[in-house]
Amino acid sequence: MTMTLVFDVYGTLVDPMGMSRLLAADAGDRASAVAALWREKQLEFSFRKGLMKVYEDFGVCTRQALRYAMAAHKLSLSEERENALMAAYLSLPAFDDSLPALESLKGEYRMFAFSNGTYPALEKVLGHNHLLDQFEGLVSVDDIKSFKPDPAVYAYARRATGAMDKPLCLVSSNAWDVIGARAAGLTAIWVQRDAGKVFEDWGIEPNAVIRSLSELPATLANL
Ligand code: LAC
Repeated sequence: MTMTLVFDVYGTLVDPMGMSRLLAADAGDRASAVAALWREKQLEFSFRKGLMKVYEDFGVCTRQALRYAMAAHKLSLSEERENALMAAYLSLPAFDDSLPALESLKGEYRMFAFSNGTYPALEKVLGHNHLLDQFEGLVSVDDIKSFKPDPAVYAYARRATGAMDKPLCLVSSNAWDVIGARAAGLTAIWVQRDAGKVFEDWGIEPNAVIRSLSELPATLANL
């Protein structure tokens, strides 16, 4: 049991695009486009708040991004409906492969969820999908008031998991997260959930690329 694994949450274990179905009531046939812009802006806002050093937690980024995505599509949202969508974000659906993969790795590796999300949000969304119990613990950027891909966040993951001098591997479907982790000296596996997703060519490569979390046990055994 030498390697510690840290799993990204949004996009890797649970699917932010799961909001499309609910957004259909607000955005009709533009629901998928609104959900995609919502996610894109949520990340952009977190990156910018990190750079600007004006930290507000990921829930704030999520709410502000929802408002932006709706406004950009010239759609309106009542306060009540906004709160309902924000509440639904806490029960985003897990990807089908998340629970079986974590179950098959449990006991073999130390495993943590490692996310931009706050602890209450992570407990809810992982608990809702029966994923919470699979982890030894959670690591939230909220502890150090910055966001991935700040190198301080990946260094914090080492401290928080106790993997200071031991191998620490990020598993993430977000290429920018994988690049951030590799740049900070972590091992990282990119989960290319969609064949059309392109890995950004920064000359910083993942240690492995998988198409599904079900490939993790074999991939980790060969790292
Ligand atoms: C996470 C988001 C950013 O850290 O994917 O879980």
